[in-house]
Amino acid sequence: MTKVWDLALRIWHWCLVIAIIAAFVTAELAEESFDAAIWHMYVGVTVLALLTFRLVWGVLGTRYAKWSSLKLAPRHLKSEAKHPTLGHSATGSWATLLILSAILTQAFTGLFSFDTGLYIGGPFSQSVSESLQTLATSIHHLGEKVIVGVIALHLAALTFYQLTGKPILLSMIHGKKRSVTRNDPPHDSISPTKLMVTIALSVTLFVWLMLKLS
Ligand code: HEM
Ligand code: HEM
Repeated sequence: MTKVWDLALRIWHWCLVIAIIAAFVTAELAEESFDAAIWHMYVGVTVLALLTFRLVWGVLGTRYAKWSSLKLAPRHLKSEAKHPTLGHSATGSWATLLILSAILTQAFTGLFSFDTGLYIGGPFSQSVSESLQTLATSIHHLGEKVIVGVIALHLAALTFYQLTGKPILLSMIHGKKRSVTRNDPPHDSISPTKLMVTIALSVTLFVWLMLKLS
């Protein structure tokens, strides 16, 4: 087994899982409660901060967390079975982009969404025209189903790989994947400075959006 996912990426993954579940729970409760709607926005802002962390970690992070390690070219899809690779496979790379864009679209449109029942909205809902506000709210509603769909697909794919001899299901817990060649390099060590810069950028966005909310 080779160490593939660094500790920062693993902690980030599980924080994202918790935040997405919290976003759905608070959105459900927000149908009746103003307080829950406020909490929904706090959680949504947390998701945006987590996405910022991932975007920056894709540049400053370790080997397999880097965007440059994603295998997006069609030739990678064709050669996936013959030449398996560590890190994200070709389908895993596309799946990563799909999940992250769905969540980013959902959180971004939330900033402009408005709940006409509770009369409360995202921090920029009053700064855009009514038609843009309505469009953002419609995309935000539709996004609910898209996110449930991509997460279901994510879990189905992981289970499928697990049952067909590629045990990757738990790799976001222990960080290791089965080596492909004898000389597979493990991920490089985390640079504390780069980690601090990534955290600082995410926290800055978080604080700025929280101030916009209050
Ligand atoms: C709300 C639920 C979930 C979300 C939103 C989510 C999101 C993601 C994302 C965005 C990635 C790509 C990581 C990257 O950025 O490089 C990923 C990878 C991964 N996730 Fe999840 N995840 C969820 C639930 C789970 C669960 C329940 C498990 C395991 C039981 C899991 C296991 C994994 C594994 C093993 C990978 C690496 C896949 C690979 O090797 O390409 N995830 N997940
Ligand atoms: C990925 C993160 C997010 C998820 C998964 C999510 C999910 C949801 C869901 C499921 C609903 C209920 C839609 C319906 O009634 O059919 C909702 C409503 C809403 N969300 Fe989010 N949301 C997220 C981020 C945000 C953010 C960042 C904000 C603003 C800061 C926000 C603001 C709102 C508002 C104002 C509504 C009410 C819209 C209405 O009732 O018409 N959301 N969200």
